[in-house]
Amino acid sequence: MEALWIEGGRALRGELTVQGAKNSVLPLLAATLLAEGKSTIRNCPKLTDVTASLDILRHLGCEVTEEGDAVTVDAGTLHTCEIPEALMRSMRSSVIFLGPVLARLGVAGMCYPGGCELGPRPIDLHLEALSRLGSEVSEGADGLRCAAVCLRGNDISLSIPSVGATENAMLAATAATGVTTIQNAAREPEIVQLQDFLRSMGADVQGAGTSVITVRGTGGTPLHGGEVTVMGDRIVAATYLAAAAAAGGEVCLRGVDYRQLSPVSAILAEAGCWVKSGGNEIVLRRDAAAPLKAVRPVRTAPYPGFPTDAQAPVMASLCTAKGASMFVENMFSSRYRHIDELRKMGADIRTEGRVAVVCGVERLHAAALEAHDLRGGAALAVAALGAEGESAIYGLRHIRRGYADLAGDLTALNAKAYLTEKE
Ligand code: UD1
Repeated sequence: MEALWIEGGRALRGELTVQGAKNSVLPLLAATLLAEGKSTIRNCPKLTDVTASLDILRHLGCEVTEEGDAVTVDAGTLHTCEIPEALMRSMRSSVIFLGPVLARLGVAGMCYPGGCELGPRPIDLHLEALSRLGSEVSEGADGLRCAAVCLRGNDISLSIPSVGATENAMLAATAATGVTTIQNAAREPEIVQLQDFLRSMGADVQGAGTSVITVRGTGGTPLHGGEVTVMGDRIVAATYLAAAAAAGGEVCLRGVDYRQLSPVSAILAEAGCWVKSGGNEIVLRRDAAAPLKAVRPVRTAPYPGFPTDAQAPVMASLCTAKGASMFVENMFSSRYRHIDELRKMGADIRTEGRVAVVCGVERLHAAALEAHDLRGGAALAVAALGAEGESAIYGLRHIRRGYADLAGDLTALNAKAYLTEKE
């Protein structure tokens, strides 16, 4: 079995341009379905979730070409409205294809995306939004089917600012007749990028980044092809900042908007790191000889709150902080699966429901570790960088969903990190 080996105790040093954002590229790829022509997505990260999305697009009838980090999708040949189970299961976020397939073909079908490693991941808000746009939604044992002769613009009020449901509603509404208003929309930067791309495709969308998004639909006319460059991944950047906080040293990360990182950089600064940011660059420095300090409670929340995706990596860095730090995970029910692994390294963490209390220990020691989910897996790498000895991390398929080259990036930052098959 393949493992990522990390030798801890070396300060991180160096500069790195952060990969394109997974959570941005997935809805952008889904959006290409809305055009009759060719769309180009640049700075596309090489992730297994991206490969799975491209497989879905090809299955639906699109022509997909890859050249370097650019992907071109020609959705003019779109002919299939059903996504088979095997493809649905290969990617958890595949429900994002529902809205655009419905918009283009008037019908879309798929099996349920199913549970996931973060706990049950319902899609009720996605389906409610599509039915508000006039789609009939039928649910059976073998999956669900959405059908609409013509989508009609409407007011959609989301009970939770779900990122995926906001994106699905935006995508479907571009083809509706009349105006759609999405209230309590998610405000994540990835939604702003989706709006920019849809506009480049000729759609009339406004308000992304605020709680109210307005879409004036085309009444069924497909959009034209568009172009976009995927923004830097704020969660990957947060992971590497947490890694430098855990290991000490100084890193400079490029290609991410520092403002998107402020909830994370504020916590790391409170823990005793020196952080300087501006433009598309963020620098974090930590004196490896001085321990981190415990921080005030970290509560995960929708953007612009502290991102749930950064909870595990930041928790890993605070395992050796002086004092006790509390985490409250408000977004997903099973997002503490990294904690048992961190305990194998000597971490002292207690959990009760949504709350985890990390009592800082003097040092972590190396261990054989198993990644159970994407960000929890990355958190193990963060912990290993600050630990004594050489750790092995298994379950890399989870990490590859969101990190194009974790070992390579860490090596570029002076870490000793490499991949091997188990002996
Ligand atoms: C997206 C991100 C994921 C991140 C999450 C929260 C992508 C591809 N993934 O996931 O990395 O952790 O946002 O920032 O962008 N909910 C419902 N019903 C629904 C939909 C969601 O109850 O129909 C609930 C979820 O269970 C969760 C909350 O809403 O408790 C937020 O989930 P949501 O924002 O939808 O997350 P995703 O879009 O799946």
